[in-house]
Amino acid sequence: MTAPASPRFRRLLVTGGAGFIGSCFVRDTLARRDGTTIVVLDKMTYAGNRANLAPVVADPEQAAHLTFVVGDIADAKAVAPLVAGVDAVVNFAAESHVDRSILDPEAFLRTDVMGVHVLLEACRLEQERARKGDRAAAPRFLQVSTDEVYGSVETGASREGDRLEPRSPYSAAKAGGELLVNSYFVTYGMDALVTRGSNTYGPYHHPEKLIPLFITNAIDDQPLPLYGDGLQRRDWLYVADHAGAIGHVLQNGRSGEVYNVPAENERTNRAVVTDLLALLDKPWSLVRQVEDRAGHDRRYAMDGSKLAALGWTNGMKFEDGLAATVDWYLAHEDWWRAIKSGDWNAYYERQYAARLASSKEAGR
Ligand SMILES: NC(=O)c1ccc[n+]([C@@H]2O[C@H](COP(=O)([O-])OP(=O)(O)OC[C@H]3O[C@@H](n4cnc5c(N)ncnc54)[C@H](O)[C@@H]3O)[C@@H](O)[C@H]2O)c1
Repeated sequence: MTAPASPRFRRLLVTGGAGFIGSCFVRDTLARRDGTTIVVLDKMTYAGNRANLAPVVADPEQAAHLTFVVGDIADAKAVAPLVAGVDAVVNFAAESHVDRSILDPEAFLRTDVMGVHVLLEACRLEQERARKGDRAAAPRFLQVSTDEVYGSVETGASREGDRLEPRSPYSAAKAGGELLVNSYFVTYGMDALVTRGSNTYGPYHHPEKLIPLFITNAIDDQPLPLYGDGLQRRDWLYVADHAGAIGHVLQNGRSGEVYNVPAENERTNRAVVTDLLALLDKPWSLVRQVEDRAGHDRRYAMDGSKLAALGWTNGMKFEDGLAATVDWYLAHEDWWRAIKSGDWNAYYERQYAARLASSKEAGR
């Protein structure tokens, strides 16, 4: 699926563009060389990484279309001048790790709720300027949200109109952020929309998350801490498909709408671990069953017919995407070893030391 030759929104503010999915969106958009210019605004938390944009920086033509600003989406002074210069804002910026939200919920409220509010207020100001004729049109605002806002879905598949039942501080903050977006559409008539993507995997994924953690630990013959019985089910979406769907919704979606972005690749965590150990030729004995995450959602699944009707189809099969991901981590040890040093150890200790000390064989 390709974006239109001449996109409707060509001057973009991409927040969180140094993170996993945001950087894929930036790399893939600029690689199309269709005249799009991107300003990245990123706070450079532990999850932000300039190296994620190295392919853009290495290409002079693409680099000329990128401006990188270090700053906080919750900082109105930093945000306002950037929003003034663009046609659309795509908000990837977030605290994004459920485990960290259990350790420190406040940071999630600051960025995932207050940050969204600040971005929306900046867009509202630009909307006023457009009404007065000071700019051609109000900016469009796309909020990148998650399937986790639906909560654990035991059977069937969530549709966009279903009730939101977030169950972790992360998903509750994300739900708060996207409900604010809807309120600005209804109350102020803002051009705003939301995507809800499913569990994403692929290159440049921070090693705190399940797939890259297990790949990199397995490369080093370190234990793989599997939460509980490992039978939690996730719908694994390849990162380029997720970023592509967001671009498609940005250009073609209807204001005020929410679009699910599923993968239709539902797998248990155990099945994923089995596949990646086979790809790495490593034994199952590395897997340790550890105490489960508190409040761990059992399953997510979404219906994708609304996005399909908008003309989007994913391109990557799970088997191919997982193999490509494993190959990428094997070929980019410098990238992930740099992350797995420094303050990584403190996080890993806090999250896994006690769990691994009381772990047991995971059984097959
Ligand atoms: N990874 C997934 O499986 C998944 C699935 C569905 C939706 N999402 C959503 O997609 C978005 C991107 O997720 P990701 O996995 O790429 O996350 P990530 O943690 O890899 O990246 C987040 C980026 O946002 C930046 N950031 C954090 N707080 C900021 C702030 N206050 N101001 C500016 N920048 C800030 C970080 O520095 C980082 O570069 C998030 O909104 C997340 O909720 C992720």
